[in-house]
Amino acid sequence: MLVDGFGRELTGIRVSLTDRCNFDCVYCHNEGLGDTRGPMDPQDDEMTTDEVVRILEVAAEFGVDAVKFTGGEPMLRGDLEEIIDRTPSTMEISMTTNGTFLPGRAEALVDAGLERVNVSQDSMDPEAFAEITKAGAYDRVLEGIDAALDAGLDPVKLNMVVFDQTAPYIPEMVERVGKEKGLQLQLIEYMPELTGHHEWAIDIDRVHGWLEERAERIEVREMHGRKRYWINGGMVEIVDPVENPSFCANCHRVRVTPEGELKGCLNRTDDYVSMDPMTKPAIRAAFQEVVANRVPFYGEYMIRNGDGEWELNEKYLQTPTTAD
Ligand code: 5AD
Repeated sequence: MLVDGFGRELTGIRVSLTDRCNFDCVYCHNEGLGDTRGPMDPQDDEMTTDEVVRILEVAAEFGVDAVKFTGGEPMLRGDLEEIIDRTPSTMEISMTTNGTFLPGRAEALVDAGLERVNVSQDSMDPEAFAEITKAGAYDRVLEGIDAALDAGLDPVKLNMVVFDQTAPYIPEMVERVGKEKGLQLQLIEYMPELTGHHEWAIDIDRVHGWLEERAERIEVREMHGRKRYWINGGMVEIVDPVENPSFCANCHRVRVTPEGELKGCLNRTDDYVSMDPMTKPAIRAAFQEVVANRVPFYGEYMIRNGDGEWELNEKYLQTPTTAD
C-alpha cells in the first residue's frame, strides 16, 4: 500500500482513456487536461491496450482496489471491453460516460467485468441539455441510461454538474431518481479552478439546505465526508470539493492521462510524472514518485492568507535550478 506524507492511502485510480469526446460540455474540466474538441479518430499518442493493462497491474500490486475509466468519452475506445476484461480481478471497475454509446454495448461491457457506471445527465430539458453539452443527443443519453439498467448495472449514477445553467433542473432530477429504481443522483459542485467562469458557480450550501429540508434520511459517508440524502425513496449525493480541505484530506486516488502520465491531483497542472518507457519498473517508480509528492490541494497546496483568501503555499513555488 502506498501512503503519502499526509497519511492518505492510495486506494483508487482514475484512468482517462482518451481526450476525444463527441460532446463539448461548457463546464468540462476534462480531468484537468484542457480542451476535448478535435478529431474523433484514435490518436497516436493515446496509451495502447497493453500499456493501460500494465499500469493497472502495477496499481493492483500496490493494493489499489478500484479503477474508474473516464475521458474524454471512454467509450470512443474500441478496446474498452478488452481493457476491462484484462483489469486485475482484485479491482472494482467503474466508468464515467456521456451515455450515448451504451445502447447496444452496455451488455458487452458488463460481460467483460464492468460493475458500475456514472452517466452525465445535467438537465431534463432537451433544449437546455443541447445548450450545455453542445450536442443534440438527449434522447440517446436516456436510451443509454436504460441500456445500462437493462444490462444489470446497479446503481446507475446520474452525474449532474451544479451551476447556474443546471440548478433549475435539480428538483426534477431528484424526482426522477425517486421514481425510477436503480438510479441515483450525484450532484457535483461546479469546479471553476480549471475552466475559469467563476461567475457560473452557485452556493452549494443552498443545495444542501434544500435537500436537507426534504430528506427522510441523511447519511454522512466516510469517503470525502460526502452527504447522502434520501428523498421519496431516491438517493441523492453531493460532491463538493471546491475550497473544501476535508474533501482533499479524504482523497485516495491518482489519475492517468491518455498519454500515460500519472498525476496526483485533479486541480494541479504541475505534478505530472511520465511512466515512460512504460515498463513495470518505470511504472512502479512513477507511482512511488507521484504518491510521495501528493499533497492535499485545499489546506496544503493552497492555504488561506490573512484576508481569508486562498493563495498558493509558497513552499510549492517552483524554485529555480542552479542551471538558470
Ligand atoms: N466541475 C464539476 N464537475 C465536472 N465534470 C466535468 N467538468 C466539471 C467541472 N468543471 C464532471 C462531469 C462528468 C465527470 C467526468 O466530471 O460530471 O460527468
